Amino acid sequence: MSHATARACANLAFVKYWGKRDASLNLPMNNSISMTLDAAHTTTRVEFVPGLERDKVLLSERPARPAFARRVAAHLDRIRSIGGSSEAARVNTHNNFPAGTGFASSASGFAALTCAASSALGLQLSRRQLSVLARLGSGSACRSICAGFVEWQAGRDSDSSFATQLADPRHWNLVDVAVLVTDEEKAVRSSDGHQLASNSPFWQTRNQTISSRLAEIRQALLERDFHRFGREVESEALEMHAIMQTSGHENGGAWQSGIFYMVADTLQLINAVQRWRQAGMDVYFTLDAGPTVHLLCMEDQVGDVLQAVNSLEGSQGWRTIVCRPGPGARLLPGRDSD
Ligand code: DP6
Repeated sequence: MSHATARACANLAFVKYWGKRDASLNLPMNNSISMTLDAAHTTTRVEFVPGLERDKVLLSERPARPAFARRVAAHLDRIRSIGGSSEAARVNTHNNFPAGTGFASSASGFAALTCAASSALGLQLSRRQLSVLARLGSGSACRSICAGFVEWQAGRDSDSSFATQLADPRHWNLVDVAVLVTDEEKAVRSSDGHQLASNSPFWQTRNQTISSRLAEIRQALLERDFHRFGREVESEALEMHAIMQTSGHENGGAWQSGIFYMVADTLQLINAVQRWRQAGMDVYFTLDAGPTVHLLCMEDQVGDVLQAVNSLEGSQGWRTIVCRPGPGARLLPGRDSD
């Protein structure tokens, strides 16, 4: 029986992937930089079963929604075509964090799926090959293949667009205190949002300035310059949201001026971070395509940051997940485990 179980962590982008050069290959407009998050992961078991009619996908032991199951099957097709197999698979996948709220579950999910499925078919792929393959499932998944601090090279074509490690997890004790202000899933999937990015009047400006932002954030990260890093990362997140909020489009016949991933509690937290900094706390924020606020601080500030978050009005319904630089995607030995 050919089966394997793999685990991959989500990742948090400091320089964002937003907008694609080629949507079918998930080729990004620009390089991006991220941290792999140790506390938020997906565990996926893939078993190729002779005689099984078609792929069966379970998410947390329940049949996955058809759109997700189709995306998984399409990714299995890529891996089957490399392995010369036509056998259908049973896929059992589980996230230890809520999906669709600004935590990249597609990143951890497609990284884990790529590792488990390729191993179950006996393929011995390099990290680079795994990263290229994971990218085809979901762009940001290529970064979750690597541990610690990671850069995704936009590349010229599919084979040259993959992620590599910038620095290992011990390089810097940077912490992401992720504050999940709601469990509600976002209304616009990232894949759809990417397509609209070029509708923003600020799109050209972003493409002209992104390489200097990238160099700045890379250098601050490598030099462990927290304040320089935090300032740039915050501006980068707000720039991405400015693009999102000005990506006008028709939706079901009605005009929408942009996509709003932030909710009221997101703004409350952003304002609080600015106040906390004025009061001397060393904390910055970033956001992905969702309402979750990722608070960035050094290890020795985690207690203060958590206390500050918990003292905010309305914080009772929030959930925090404290993430440190984590491992790359890996196979789990033996039977299914969590
Ligand atoms: C806002 O990787 O989810 O998190 O390639 O269409 O699957 P697809 O998109 P996805 O986009 C992630 C967008 C982001 C920024 C980032 O992670 O860099």
